[in-house]
Amino acid sequence: MKKILVTGALGQIGSELVEKLRETYGTANVIGTDIRIAEGAAEKGPFEIVDVTDADKLFSVAKDYQVDTIMHLAALLSAKAEANPKFAWDLNMGGLINALEVARELDLQFFTPSSIGAFGPSTPKDGTPQETVQRPTTMYGVNKVAGELLCDYYYHRFGVDTRGVRYPGLISYVSPPGGGTTDYAVEMYYEAVRNKAYRSDIDAGTYMDMMYMPDALQAIMQLMEADPGKLKHRNAYNISAISAAPEDFAIAIRKHIPDFKLTYEVDPVKQKIAESWPNSMDSSAAREEWGFKAAYDIDAMTKDMLEKLRSK
Ligand code: NAD
Ligand code: SER
Repeated sequence: MKKILVTGALGQIGSELVEKLRETYGTANVIGTDIRIAEGAAEKGPFEIVDVTDADKLFSVAKDYQVDTIMHLAALLSAKAEANPKFAWDLNMGGLINALEVARELDLQFFTPSSIGAFGPSTPKDGTPQETVQRPTTMYGVNKVAGELLCDYYYHRFGVDTRGVRYPGLISYVSPPGGGTTDYAVEMYYEAVRNKAYRSDIDAGTYMDMMYMPDALQAIMQLMEADPGKLKHRNAYNISAISAAPEDFAIAIRKHIPDFKLTYEVDPVKQKIAESWPNSMDSSAAREEWGFKAAYDIDAMTKDMLEKLRSK
């Protein structure tokens, strides 16, 4: 991995991943792309407008920059996908197959994230195994399972070096999340700093896997540099750091903001999605095959999030 093209580079993950990749591989060697442009994005390093549903444009940008790796992040997240399922299918599956085709034609290494959304209500909820029932009931989940299989197919059929993880809900302070079910956890930290109060659209007692962004980025770097001979589950490693419900975040926040108030106004669509996802995934395959290890638990993450948000 020496020259990398990132799609969806202005999103929650991409905006931090591009910065981390540039620190490691050099600014000129990381090409950010997105369907839109953000202020200052083009001044920080190479940046191109690319709609991932435009296969020709994606191919020509990858070829012109002579990249050896593509990290495909552009997608519609769970809550937005549920509001617009056909559009989600076209973007999530159309963009993925276009990016995989570019990787096949130009012989690139390939990364794309799957999600806890790849599981459904019939999946074991606690200690969710690496290999288990995957019958998701959301369009996002259908896209993620199909995406995992498609990446496996490109590896077995064409020898493309595809790799991926099943991310939990990601918590970060740099860029806002893009319309997922786990967004409440990020919003809670922002509102704790602004107003010392938050109304959660996910109900008390609803557990989901979560992770702090530095651990999520470290996982990509480690997986992409891992010895290919050791990767048995290359396209969809369960990785998790924190299993939490809304009240657990409130307890952690109150250690720093004692009068923080948490109330609830449940969004039935998001709640149904959340209840269909695991409480806590088993990450042992990622630990064994490429050394995944999260550095942040809920208290370490909360301390850092609140410090960073206050200084922001
Ligand atoms: P995001 O919504 O924050 O960012 C997505 C980016 O894609 C945006 O900048 C958007 O402008 C761009 N985009 C949208 N349509 C596009 C198109 N047609 N062409 C090019 N770019 C387009 O998403 P994210 O949170 O950064 O997620 C990135 C990937 O990680 C997705 O596959 C998502 O499913 C996965 N993931 C995210 C989380 C999380 O908690 N953030 C958890 C699990 C998996
Ligand atoms: N954070 C993502 C979502 O809620 C999980 O994939 O959609």
